Amino acid sequence: MDPREYTVCPITEFPEGSRLLVRVGDEEVGIFNVGGQIVAYKNRCAHQGGPVCRGRILGRWVEDLNSAKEVIGGHHSSDMDLVCPWHGWEYDLLTGKNIADPSISLKAVDVVVRDGVIYVRAESATRTPEVVPAHE
Ligand code: FES
Repeated sequence: MDPREYTVCPITEFPEGSRLLVRVGDEEVGIFNVGGQIVAYKNRCAHQGGPVCRGRILGRWVEDLNSAKEVIGGHHSSDMDLVCPWHGWEYDLLTGKNIADPSISLKAVDVVVRDGVIYVRAESATRTPEVVPAHE
């Protein structure tokens, strides 16, 4: 079956920094506006399936090293991380890659913006996506 597109919301109602959780069929999907880019992931952590898309979103702290690889300070980068509320695994919000091990990723979900409207693509859904509350 070809994926179908389901309307999420107008892009004007989803500014930078926004998060929405929608249910598509039996699957919960987190949709995020990361610096103007819209990304979506299944709400299942790669560790033990926790509700990662309900986790905290933090600016990434980057340690500054000297030539001997000693920590001499640190700073916040513009990258944002999504922290799973169960055991704290962290993912790059834009790419879905795990910070500690980039070979591990969240499951991306196809999302498109067309004519000012955000759509999520899914193989099967019993109804239009329903917005579910995001709690930490
Ligand atoms: S289930 Fe997400 S960190 Fe363990």
